Formats: sequence, C-alpha cells, structure tokens
Amino acid sequence: MTQELDNDLLLRALLRQPTPRRPLWLMRQAGRYLPEYRATRARAGSFLAMCTNPEYACEVTLQPLDRYALDAAILFSDILTIPHAMNLGLEFEAGEGPRFARPVRTAADIERLPLPDPARELRYVVDAVSLIRRELRGRVPLIGFAGSPWTVATYMVEGGGSKTFGAIKRMLYGAPRDLHRLLAHLARATILYLNAQIEAGAQAVMLFDTWGGALTPAQYREFSLHYMGEICASLRRESQGRVVPRIVFTKGGGAWLERTAAIGCDAVGVDWTTDLADARRLVGDRVALQGNLDPAALHAPPEVLRAEVLRVLESFGRGPGHVFNLGHGITPDVDPERVAVLVEAVRGYRLDGG
Ligand code: CP3
Repeated sequence: MTQELDNDLLLRALLRQPTPRRPLWLMRQAGRYLPEYRATRARAGSFLAMCTNPEYACEVTLQPLDRYALDAAILFSDILTIPHAMNLGLEFEAGEGPRFARPVRTAADIERLPLPDPARELRYVVDAVSLIRRELRGRVPLIGFAGSPWTVATYMVEGGGSKTFGAIKRMLYGAPRDLHRLLAHLARATILYLNAQIEAGAQAVMLFDTWGGALTPAQYREFSLHYMGEICASLRRESQGRVVPRIVFTKGGGAWLERTAAIGCDAVGVDWTTDLADARRLVGDRVALQGNLDPAALHAPPEVLRAEVLRVLESFGRGPGHVFNLGHGITPDVDPERVAVLVEAVRGYRLDGG
C-alpha cells in the first residue's frame, strides 16, 4: 500500500523536522472512558475478544479519531499479545487486570517458551494493522507498538500485575542468567512482531516500558535498556519510502533520559514527573520528545486544564521535535468532554512556529 498521508505532522515531529503546529495523540486514546468503546466491548464479549478480532480492533482504533482532531491512530491491542501467543493462559478479569494461568518461574519454564510466528499466532494483529491502514485512508499515520522485554517479563513472571515485583526481582537477584535468557527471547519475539507490524503498514512504532522505573539505574541499563536497544537496532528503518520512527517510553525513567536517547530511537516518551525543558537539556538534539501532561489534569476544570496544557507546550520551548501526549494513559474515569478541551488547547497553539 503506498498511500499519501493527508497529515504527516507526527512523523515529521518524531524526526525533529519543522511542523506548523505540535502534533498530538494520547496514550490509551481508545479505551473505557469512551461510551462507544464500552459498547463495542459489550458486543465483542471481552477485551481479549476485541483484541483478537481485526474488525473490532479496527473499529475501536478509529473511535477516538472520529471524535477528536488527533494526529495519529494507535493500533488497538495490548503488550501481552506476545506472552498470550506463548500459551501462558492469559485472562483479563473485570476490574482485576491481566492474569496468567501458567506464570514463568524456572529455567525450565523459560526453555519451553515458543517463539511466536507473527504470520501465524499473531496473525490477528498483522491483519488488524492492514485493515486499519485501509480504513484510515491516509487521514493520519498509524502507530504500532509492543511492550519492552522487561515490562512484558514482569507480567509473565509475576503472573499478572504487581506493585512490588517480588517474583521477578527474586529472579533478577538470584538467577540473573535465567532472566537474561527470558529477556533475550522476548527481544527476538518483539523484533519479529514489530517488523511484521511495519510490513503490514505501521508508520511509527513505540516500545512501552511501563515498569522500567521499578529498577535501579544499573539494572535499568542491564535488564531493560539493553534489550530495547537490541530491538531498535533490528527494526526495519523504512517502509513505503518513509522512515519509520521509533519511540521509547520508560515510565519513571526521567533520570535516565540521556541514556535512553542514545539507544537508536528517534523519540523518547516522558512522564509527568520531569519538566520537558530539563528533558530537552538532557537529550539535546539527539531525539524528539513525547509527552507529558499529567493524566489527572483531565479531571481539572477546563480553564485549569488549558493552563496545564499550555505549561507543557511552553516547557518544551521553541523549535521542532515535540509530540504532545499525556505522561501515561487516559484513565477510565475521564469525561470525554475534557479530552475535547485538551485537543482544542493543543491545536490552538501555533505561536512558536516550531
Ligand atoms: O493507547 C492505546 O489507545 C492503544 C491500546 C493499548 C492498550 N494497552 C489497550 C488496553 C496499549 C498501547 C496498551 C499497552 C499496555 N497494556 C501497557 C503499556 C502501557 C501502559 O498503559 O502502561 C500495559 C502495562 C498493558 C497491560 C495491561 N492491559 C493492563 C495492566 C491492563 C489492565 C489495566 C486496565 O486499564 O484495566 C490491560 C487492559 C487494557 N489494555 C485495556 C485497554 C483499553 C482495558 C481493558 C478493558 O477494556 O477492560
């Protein structure tokens, strides 16, 4: 498919090229805060049923774009599709988050893990990407994504979400070579998966390292950043005659932005605990920045929300290389009207010429 993009602001900003205004999209822009999302999920029967059916995944991906003037679509899927394809028995219990029936705990568990073939076990994701590209008809670019090996491993080893990461940290300290084997395996699976998304039409890709911030600085480099660097080094650089930019987001990684920026990515996602002016000083002109409004600002009165949006835009300052986003995903309790206020506030800001 070689289709011209009507709006390529995102791709330009991610490569630090000038744009007439700052592009914006929002993590979890398709989600439970939207009544139309909840209606589709009810029809599909469950979150996983929605992810594994390309028609539903496409429908839900486009919902926020029909409501708001966003500058990108993000594939509707989950970072846990890879372990799901490794037969660990993934379930999403209502209000409980993800659970694996067969967590990965021992060297033998790790050795047994299959390497999912994107054309087979993850075919539904590849098909969703092609279908979404077709339905987008060049309106905006489509972002593909995967979890970082470290973050995906936390769910596989813990058996679900965790606050303390006891099981995976026991492995990290007690059997680091086993953990490295698991992370290397996940990195291989992720390279195949993201390259398949790129071949199917993803125009940018993002690595979500949601739990990198649970590590010490040295552990972050050894157990998370190293594998994200391997992935960046092995991704297809171009598709349909355009560079496919790579975004790396480590939640809680504000102190390490300089190192994150050096692994071969084009843009670094920043959470709301770091000022973008400081982030920019750390990364220099090596990468673009994406972020970083506090998602809870969506609960603020409209005039306060507008002021917070402006604060983020101005903290980046002048010049190209900023993609407006939240510092993490939209929560289910957000009023969709507030998202409209946010979008208008970002789109109305064009004073800096950059
Ligand atoms: O940003 C988008 O709009 C794209 C869709 C997307 C989802 N998950 C949909 C989803 C993306 C990019 C993800 C990534 C993801 N999944 C991450 C990394 C990003 C982050 O938020 O930190 C993580 C850690 C997961 C794992 C995961 N999936 C958890 C912990 C949960 C439960 C938490 C919750 O919000 O209930 C999910 C489920 C999930 N993934 C939902 C959505 C819309 C909610 C499912 C539902 O409808 O009940």
